[in-house]
Amino acid sequence: MLRVANASRSYGDETVLRNLSIEVGSGEVVAVIGPSGVGKTTLLRLLALSLEPDEGTVALDGTDAWAVDAAERRALRRRVGMVFQEASLFDASVARNVEYGLRVRRSWRDRLHDEVAGLVRSNGVADAVHEALDVVGLTQKVVQQADSLSGGEAQRVSFARALAYEPDVLLLDEPTSDLDPRNTAVIEDAIGEARDRGIGVVAATHDMHQAERVADRVAVLLDDGITEIGPTERIFEDPSDERTRKFISGELVY
Ligand SMILES: Nc1ncnc2c1ncn2[C@@H]1O[C@H](COP(=O)(O)OP(=O)(O)OP(=O)(O)O)[C@@H](O)[C@H]1O
Ligand SMILES: [Mg+2]
Repeated sequence: MLRVANASRSYGDETVLRNLSIEVGSGEVVAVIGPSGVGKTTLLRLLALSLEPDEGTVALDGTDAWAVDAAERRALRRRVGMVFQEASLFDASVARNVEYGLRVRRSWRDRLHDEVAGLVRSNGVADAVHEALDVVGLTQKVVQQADSLSGGEAQRVSFARALAYEPDVLLLDEPTSDLDPRNTAVIEDAIGEARDRGIGVVAATHDMHQAERVADRVAVLLDDGITEIGPTERIFEDPSDERTRKFISGELVY
C-alpha cells in the first residue's frame, strides 16, 4: 500500500539513507530497528510524505507522491498518521486534542455526510474520542489540559489522536520511549488494535524486544539503509546478514 522504492536522502553533504526500499501493507506491523542517528525518523518522514527523497519514489496505492501536484499530495498525506518522537499536543483539553484528529479526517472523508447528519455528529465525535482514549487507558483524563499531562500520558494521548484519525497507515516514532512497562503494554495492545482495524503500522523503536512482540516484519537499519528486512522470527532467529546478527546479539555497538 505505502511503498518507498530505491530512496536516498541527504542532509547537506551527509547521506543518511541510501537506496532504501520498504513497504507496508494494510493490517501489517513493520518495526524499524537500528542505532540512534541511523535515520529511522528520516525514514518515517519519507513515509509520511513530509520529506522528499533526493532519489527514488514514495507511493501510496501506486500513486507517486512526489510526481503529483501539491493538492493531490496533501490528499495522500491525510491518509497517513504520524505520532512523533516528542509528543506534540495543543494547549487545550485532552478531548480537544483527540477530537482534532477526527475533525481533520472528517473534513475530507465525511464532510457531506456530517452536514446532513447535524446533531448526530457531535455524539459520534464524543463516542470516537472516548473510544480512542479507552484504547490507551486514559478516559479519566478527558477534560484535563494537555500541558498538565505527564510525559507518558502525553505520548498516549498523541497515540489516541492518531488512532481517532483512522489513517490507512500509522507511523510511530519511538511510541513507548517515555512509558513504564504497564503502559508500554497498553500501547503495544493498541498497535495490535490498529492492525486489527486494517491499518498498516510502521514503528521505529530502540526496543528490540518490542519489535519482536509487535511486528510482523522487522527492518534493520544500519549504515545508510536497510541491511535486512523480513519476518520477525527469521530476523531474530536466523538473520542472513552478519551485521544484523551482531546488532541483535549486542556484539555490534554503535
Ligand atoms: N534537518 C536535519 N538537518 C541536518 N541533519 C539532520 C536533520 N535531520 C536529521 N539529521 C541527521 O540525520 C541523521 C539521522 O537522523 P534521524 O533523526 O533520522 O535518526 P534516528 O535513527 O531517528 O535517531 P534516534 O534513534 O536518535 O531517534 C542524524 O545524524 C541527524 O543528526
Ligand atoms: Mg528518531
